[in-house]
Amino acid sequence: MKLLIDDANLDAIRQLYQFYPIDGVTTNPTILSKAGRPPFDVLREIRAFIGPDADLHVQAVASGAQGMVEDAHRITEQLGENTLVKIPCVPEGFQAMKILVKEGVRVTGTAVYTPMQAYLAARCGAEYAAPYINRIDNMGFDGIAVAKEIQDIFTNNGLSTQILAASFKNSQQVLELCRCGVGASTVSPDVIRSFVNSPAIAAAVDAFAADFERLTGVRSMKEC
Ligand code: G3P
Repeated sequence: MKLLIDDANLDAIRQLYQFYPIDGVTTNPTILSKAGRPPFDVLREIRAFIGPDADLHVQAVASGAQGMVEDAHRITEQLGENTLVKIPCVPEGFQAMKILVKEGVRVTGTAVYTPMQAYLAARCGAEYAAPYINRIDNMGFDGIAVAKEIQDIFTNNGLSTQILAASFKNSQQVLELCRCGVGASTVSPDVIRSFVNSPAIAAAVDAFAADFERLTGVRSMKEC
């Protein structure tokens, strides 16, 4: 499972890249609105930081198929041809996906709340389909179960589309999807920071260092 950051804050992205094995960044219009700056300025900075080959998913905003196709062209022209364009899984979105995939544009079907949307995105040639785990939970359904069902649909129909799971509230949801081997999860900085955040872990590491210091008087191998 690839691990991506679902955020546009460059400081947070830099910090998380420093510590963790991160495969890329995803944004959506809401995330970009929080940055409060011209979207392509922010996105170009993210692209420059993560490099030309890392996964960057950026959402088309226009509502009709033609508008989405034009948005996709602008996104790939500004951010590189390998940038994945997120297209909402609505009827006009499927129309746009078919056009874009024929052109060779990489597409992620987004705003996935149902397995049927993911199936249709996959049949349109999307590389990823993005179920919104926590939002599905909040609707009274089981987001993890929906993602597992989508995984079965892809496998049982020989579809090469991968899941890009999104909208997480906690690390357990991410771990559960890791167990299933989904293609990717995109996670907010706060939830990524919670991955390794137990007092027991910090206490164990500190106890090892203290024991070593009692033996040697120093806290590093290079000093003893
Ligand atoms: O891009 C979709 C995903 O980021 C939604 O997450 O936390 O707004 O439900 P959230």
